Amino acid sequence: MNNILITGGAGFIGSALANYYCKNHNIIVVDDLSMGNEKNLIKSKNITLIKGSVTDQQLMAQLLETQQFDYIFHLAAIASVADSVQRPLETHHVNFDSVLYLLELVKKQTGLKRLLFTSSAAVYGDEPTLPKQEESVIRPLTPYAIDKFSAEKYVVDYCHLYGVPTSAVRFFNVYGPNQNPNSPYSGVISIIMDCYKQLLKNNNTSFTMFGDGNQSRDFIYIDDVIKALDLIVSSDEALAEVYNVGTGNSVTLNNLISIIGESLNKDLSINYENERDGDIRESLADISKIKSIGFQPEFDIKKGLRKYIKHEL
Ligand code: UD1
Repeated sequence: MNNILITGGAGFIGSALANYYCKNHNIIVVDDLSMGNEKNLIKSKNITLIKGSVTDQQLMAQLLETQQFDYIFHLAAIASVADSVQRPLETHHVNFDSVLYLLELVKKQTGLKRLLFTSSAAVYGDEPTLPKQEESVIRPLTPYAIDKFSAEKYVVDYCHLYGVPTSAVRFFNVYGPNQNPNSPYSGVISIIMDCYKQLLKNNNTSFTMFGDGNQSRDFIYIDDVIKALDLIVSSDEALAEVYNVGTGNSVTLNNLISIIGESLNKDLSINYENERDGDIRESLADISKIKSIGFQPEFDIKKGLRKYIKHEL
């Protein structure tokens, strides 16, 4: 039974990880519940939720001084690009400073097997060459992306400089249960699913499409993400390495909507608006690197949507 710390563990991805590991391991979640929700966590005697911020140095120091962790997953972040543009100082504190505090604290943890940091495909910015390899041009365009990229670099460097066992991932577009649809910057699949929920309750609703719907993304289902993270933290080859986490396939929004529409036998009304500022037209991961340590996504978009729909509707 390992002792596992998951920061941001009440959020969408963090809670899926906590719920997965709690069957056989002891989980400590640190989450300030600013975006996460306690209800995302299943009731288990193996999960302890500490309500607090990763920027609270005293809290984090006390936690890491009193407990020895086998694995640490650092997912806590203000995961909004728009917010980082509005409030670069505040988001930097959470998205970057917390990583450096944590790295300093874990230098003293002797039994740590792995610290995994979660970064984003946002680091690639708008450089158009596809698919993105980990060694592709990095062009972070927002405080969010700059913080994620700098933090990644520190995480890898702490392995080289101080022997802290680290790895990092760059998420592409993750979807699945418990992703909050209630902000304009929520993942588009959670927003579409929410529209369908309204529609099935006979509420009048429409989905706002920013642009013509031909923009494409590499959407990865949450179960595959959990599988990828588990694989990385158990692989020696992954030490001090950064991995894309995607499927290696992309789909347009129009396609996505027609897949969901066909499976529910209902058409969503679409309200077209201008493209979002700074929106990327296409995004696609090259996943050869993570495949080289044994990853194979199980869910293509149809299979992932089927499971998601079954869970939600
Ligand atoms: C995603 C990440 C973002 C990251 C970026 C890096 C999510 C939720 N966001 O943004 O943090 O910086 O990848 O590449 O994973 N759309 C609509 N209507 C809506 C909502 C969205 O048409 O109501 C469109 C967007 O304009 C975009 C597409 O859907 O073209 C996908 O949007 P979104 O899910 O927000 O993801 P990204 O923009 O790829």
